[in-house]
Amino acid sequence: MTGSCASAISYSNDKGTLLYRGYAIEDLIKQGTTYTEVCFLMLYGDLPNKVDLLAFEDRIKDEMIVHQKLLDFYKGFTVNAHPMAILCSVVGALSSFIHNTLDIKDPIQRELSAIKLIAKMPVIAAISFRTSAGLPIVYPDRKLSYIENFLNMMFADPMDKEFKVPKIFVDYFEKLFILHADNDQGPSTTAVRIAGSSLANPFASISAGIASLWGPLHGGANEDQLNTFDEIGSVKNIPAYLEKVKNKEKKLTGFGHRIYKTYDPRALIIKQLCKDLYKEIGMETPELFILAEKLEEAALSDEYFRSRSLYPNIDYYSGFIFEALQIPHNMFCVVFAITRCLGWVTHWREMMSESVIRIGRPRQIYTGHKLRPFVPIESRPNAAAFELKASLSRSHSIA
Ligand code: CMC
Repeated sequence: MTGSCASAISYSNDKGTLLYRGYAIEDLIKQGTTYTEVCFLMLYGDLPNKVDLLAFEDRIKDEMIVHQKLLDFYKGFTVNAHPMAILCSVVGALSSFIHNTLDIKDPIQRELSAIKLIAKMPVIAAISFRTSAGLPIVYPDRKLSYIENFLNMMFADPMDKEFKVPKIFVDYFEKLFILHADNDQGPSTTAVRIAGSSLANPFASISAGIASLWGPLHGGANEDQLNTFDEIGSVKNIPAYLEKVKNKEKKLTGFGHRIYKTYDPRALIIKQLCKDLYKEIGMETPELFILAEKLEEAALSDEYFRSRSLYPNIDYYSGFIFEALQIPHNMFCVVFAITRCLGWVTHWREMMSESVIRIGRPRQIYTGHKLRPFVPIESRPNAAAFELKASLSRSHSIA
């Protein structure tokens, strides 16, 4: 096995271990660690004491405000634009507004860029949601914590000046943010590293990470997941659905992982958090959650899944908890992106602090033509592949 890089940030293995800077994910959750403590841990290598944490949280708050002109960007999107499309563009555009931290050779500027990204992601994401919902935007508030700010910017009621984010929401989001923060060299982190390895600026590099995360094989799986349960519809349809999966007509979204060959530790925690939340808020367990548990049970006792070591991953149950916490489906992956931004900027800083930065440039196995003689235009036959494309281009869409 060859590692794509050397990294001291997070560690996962096939036995279902996930460590952030050496701390087990289960311990960070059980001990009630806050997301900003984990931000500090990832960026600086150790958990903060109280004094350092307060100073760090202040630094983040200082950077939460976005340039007023950035808001003009949002006006260019159609009302039904996916918030991930907005996030990719607006984060990429940050480099046109921020000029004092773009010297990637300066460690202080790199640190400030990382803090700016962590600080501005929830703001940019919440504005995406508010504009798509036709609601007035809400600015960050220095009196609120990082998570409270995100939820307040998302959900503040323009007609209720007394609006306060329920504490129970804050507590669950602290945990969900930590669970999604990093998972060593996942596809989006690798995309950030590859983009950054050309010495591109951090805002452009993080935008590459957001684009990679959006795909349904990666972070986009959480948005897909509830549709899968919806499509199955009823417990009695589970065997027929699993047959389709085994016949390779479908993939079971939320199952399988390149690293974890057992239960994803994050999925175990999220499944329990769903149950705790339903109980705490007095919500009846949704029928689809019951279906998901039955589907999991059926899959885990089936030879197809057992022999391939396919178990629930982080996205199998996360849609349920996001839904119960009022996050709209098209914002599921956006929440993932806000939290994973911590992993991305930490990996980017780690890479940029190396004494020699080598460009990420994988080799290929070439399968094309050998050298062939040039054919003048008059003698060339029709190209079958182009005819196919020409018929596709006959659609009458403006875009
Ligand atoms: N449903 C059915 N079969 C599957 C699934 C699945 N979800 N995942 C893998 N397999 C099969 C695959 O077809 C292959 O079968 P065979 O041996 O007959 O060719 C075998 O299991 C090995 O799979 P693989 O293709 O080597 O697995 P991978 O490591 O390349 O892919 C994965 C990992 C996550 C992309 C894949 O499991 C998958 O597509 N899962 C569904 C999408 C999903 O839930 N993504 C979220 C991942 S976790 C969040 C994150 O960190 O991104």
